[in-house]
Amino acid sequence: MTSTQYPPVVKGGLPLVGHAVSFLKKPLDLLKKGYEEHGDMYTLKLGNDNAVVMLGPQHHKFFFNQTDKLLDIKEGYPFFVRMFNEHFYFLGDYESYTAQRSLIIPCFKNTQMPDYVDIMLYETHRFMQKIGDEGEFDLLSEFGPLVMNIAAHSFLGKDFREKLGVGIFDDFREFSEGMDPVLPGWLPIPKFMRSQKAKKKLHGILGKLIKERRQSPVETRDFLQTLSESTYENGKAVEDEVLINLILLLVWAGHETTAGHISWGLIDLLQNPTFTEKLLAQQQEVLGKKLHLTMDDLKQLKHIDHALKETERLHPVAYVLFRSANETFDYNGYTIPKDTKIFIAPWVAHLMPDVFEQPNRFMPERFAQKQENYSLVGFGGGVHRCAGVNFAYLEMRVLLTILLQYYDFELMNKDPQPLKGAKTKWPEPTKVRYKKRANAVNLAEGITIGKSVTNKCPFH
Ligand code: HEM
Repeated sequence: MTSTQYPPVVKGGLPLVGHAVSFLKKPLDLLKKGYEEHGDMYTLKLGNDNAVVMLGPQHHKFFFNQTDKLLDIKEGYPFFVRMFNEHFYFLGDYESYTAQRSLIIPCFKNTQMPDYVDIMLYETHRFMQKIGDEGEFDLLSEFGPLVMNIAAHSFLGKDFREKLGVGIFDDFREFSEGMDPVLPGWLPIPKFMRSQKAKKKLHGILGKLIKERRQSPVETRDFLQTLSESTYENGKAVEDEVLINLILLLVWAGHETTAGHISWGLIDLLQNPTFTEKLLAQQQEVLGKKLHLTMDDLKQLKHIDHALKETERLHPVAYVLFRSANETFDYNGYTIPKDTKIFIAPWVAHLMPDVFEQPNRFMPERFAQKQENYSLVGFGGGVHRCAGVNFAYLEMRVLLTILLQYYDFELMNKDPQPLKGAKTKWPEPTKVRYKKRANAVNLAEGITIGKSVTNKCPFH
């Protein structure tokens, strides 16, 4: 029989529940405590489960390379079953997962990005028309809908966004509420019931839309058209339920995370005015009096890219990633039994002083140099690395560039803290005050979306 030897257990667990309550209430504090007590590998007791936490590039590499081999991703996302179904995406067998993934990946290719820039400009312009030249807003309350409109418009087309987008925005939000990583899905609590109701409604709407697109294809192909007609390699049509779930996955996965990251991004910039001055000077140099932002411009705007990477490091909204052991294995001097939960915790690993110099300081310039592989993991890694990472970075770069070019912002809550609890690590409710700059240039003005409605998918 194999002996089991877990890494050291973090002190302070309670009888029966162990660290479960702390993990639910203040996961960041608990994960940091583990690192302070025991370094880069330690064990948490979560009720009946043992969870081994691994921190740092070497362990991240193991975690990502062993996913779908020694480590299982399904167990880590139990709420996926409730939100989609037990065969969808990585919950199904590996072959169906890769077949489903291949349906969405081509639309995130680099060649697709210029079309998305126009949609991002258009949506940001509408947002700026809505908020006007002066006022205050709460970051998540405004960035949430904006990001969702961009996703709906990019993936489902302008018609969808105009006719249905506003009405079903709340349904998408309610559907997302069901993605609770901690509470068991059978609990009859209102948010889960609302989520299931919204899911049913969305399935009805999206199913109808897919059928319409099959019967009367739009002339200018977009992602939805391509998806509606897609087939597997063997020529078999992709089932409606899979298509609907893929759309829901994209809108959900791209919403909470991006809204949180961009909010932290603006907070970080406003807290670091010296760097932001440099960023604005670079904008001035590259953009001058231009009235339209292009991919070529964005490539030259390095500071915003580095700043968003530094935000990914300091405030990774996906602060912990979950797997479980498919079998007992030996690793790093320990023997870890089958079914043990395995976590990595980017929020803590990104602050390790032997990986990032002066880890608590906001120093975006560090990303002008290549960093060690697997050191920055806010978007995951390996096969399951975020499918939308290029889209998300593009979106955040476009939004912040336009907004900072047009407005002066002031942070009303000077030191926002991450939300407590186990969900996506958004900042706590945080307001900014904004005012049109004296020399404001609106880089989104005059954008016409006719071109981007034709966002061709590279399949065709
Ligand atoms: C700031 C924004 C985002 C962050 C921080 C983020 C983070 C992540 C992370 C950490 C994973 C890997 C999870 C794991 O290994 O357990 C992931 C996977 C994924 N993300 Fe994102 N994401 C973001 C935006 C997006 C967007 C915009 C989309 C699509 C529109 C998207 C679609 C996906 C999908 C489909 C997966 C699953 C990949 C797979 O297993 O094949 N994400 N994301």
